Amino acid sequence: MDTFQDKVAVVTGAASGIGLAMAKAFASAGANVALADVDVDGLDAAAEQVAASGTSVLTQRCDVRFDTELEALRDRVVAEFGTAHVLCNNAGIGSGGPLDGLTRNDWEWTLGVNLWGVINGISAFLGLLKAQDEGHIVNTASVAGLFGSPFMGPYTASKFAVVGVSEVLHHELAMVGSQVGASVLCPSWVATRIHESERTRPAELANPETPEALSAAAGIRDLINSVVSEGMDPDDVAQLVLDAVLQRRFWILTHDTTAAVVERRTTSILSGEAPPFVMPQ
Ligand SMILES: NC(=O)c1ccc[n+]([C@@H]2O[C@H](COP(=O)([O-])OP(=O)(O)OC[C@H]3O[C@@H](n4cnc5c(N)ncnc54)[C@H](O)[C@@H]3O)[C@@H](O)[C@H]2O)c1
Repeated sequence: MDTFQDKVAVVTGAASGIGLAMAKAFASAGANVALADVDVDGLDAAAEQVAASGTSVLTQRCDVRFDTELEALRDRVVAEFGTAHVLCNNAGIGSGGPLDGLTRNDWEWTLGVNLWGVINGISAFLGLLKAQDEGHIVNTASVAGLFGSPFMGPYTASKFAVVGVSEVLHHELAMVGSQVGASVLCPSWVATRIHESERTRPAELANPETPEALSAAAGIRDLINSVVSEGMDPDDVAQLVLDAVLQRRFWILTHDTTAAVVERRTTSILSGEAPPFVMPQ
């Protein structure tokens, strides 16, 4: 793709943070934008901001854990905009805690949104993009998909998997000479509401509200908040995403600190040393 003018961008997790910033950036660059999220009130507020650029905007409640919801999103986008060009599989949640303190619900919720959301997005939209031989899929992973850090078990598992699936997607498109591109976004801390992810946890995956569990959840939230609040501006991340799509660049690393950590981890694999201890920064 060499322009976003009059193209169609679809963004999941668009009511807040990085997703909202990408939606605004695509609209500023001339694209019509479909905003999808479970947060319906947030979607309305987001749509107002995105529509300020003057392009067409649609919103749809969409829980990315479910394939039928991504298929319904695709069908609505095609019905209203004619097709889709850019898909940002961005919806995600943050969770944490020591491995022996996590519940099955923590794993199912995190993998359901962060990994199945990406799988469902690819499954729903890839055929459409390949058939028109034009478009780009951006999967939001994290630096947590490039190295493991303590207390981030489900999150790390989901993001490593998103990086892996994205590489597979890139290769499968390249092998058939497709004009459709793929990128994986691997930010370190960005100033969003990710520390408040519990606001969207579905009732059926709630944890028992014991004093220990509530205090552990509050501890994780405060810890993540302390680093996220100092994080990169989501608008800057969004600009890097748009640049990468136009340049057909696969890896989207946002922070200067990431390359050195990836190099240290790779060196440890090759030398047989234990993985370096690193917290995302
Ligand atoms: N903020 C960071 O420091 C950071 C770093 C690396 C990666 N990321 C990734 O960026 C992505 C966006 O997160 P953010 O930081 O903007 O957080 P955010 O909480 O501000 O935004 C996430 C959005 O996803 C939505 N969402 C949650 N569950 C959903 C579901 N089941 N279906 C559809 N939408 C759902 C939320 O309602 C929210 O609008 C996530 O994939 C996250 O893992 C964030």
